[in-house]
Amino acid sequence: MNGNIILVGLMGSGKTTVGRALARKLNKLFIDSDHEIEARTGASIPLIFEIEGEPSFREREAEVIRDLTARQNIVLATGGGAILNADSRALLKGSGTIIYLRASVNHILQRTSRDKNRPLLQTADPRRRLEELSRQRDPLYREIADIIIDTGRPNVQVLLHSILSQL
Ligand code: S3P
Repeated sequence: MNGNIILVGLMGSGKTTVGRALARKLNKLFIDSDHEIEARTGASIPLIFEIEGEPSFREREAEVIRDLTARQNIVLATGGGAILNADSRALLKGSGTIIYLRASVNHILQRTSRDKNRPLLQTADPRRRLEELSRQRDPLYREIADIIIDTGRPNVQVLLHSILSQL
């Protein structure tokens, strides 16, 4: 173990908010894989989806995960779909402690309503899309998680306390 903390979970589960707070508390550098992709391409995630399509975004995402999992002493918030790639799953697993932030579809819908930054939710029926994503991905998140945190509880400090007590 090289001391990395990796946050996985569906979009809107609070990976970025919790990750930032954890990094501050543990004195580690916070990195968000989506932000890293945006920094490397100079384009927003929605624009990458629009121009190149999802498969190309997934390739970029896998490359970023490869690079970031080689680093040490970071808190890494991953994009919700990063775990779809088997190589990325293995790399993430080998690079630190994995925390799965589990959130209900209702909770995510509340947090992501009117959010134009999530191309996968730009659909006529975001609830249905989220239910599908949750069904498909929940087993993958569970497979690699060392710690599972239910984020139904609203307060970041409460979540943080719960995570720190299990590390
Ligand atoms: C995605 C989640 C997003 C982003 C992209 C695709 C997904 O990240 O990577 O829109 O497939 O669930 P967040 O989980 O940070 O929103």
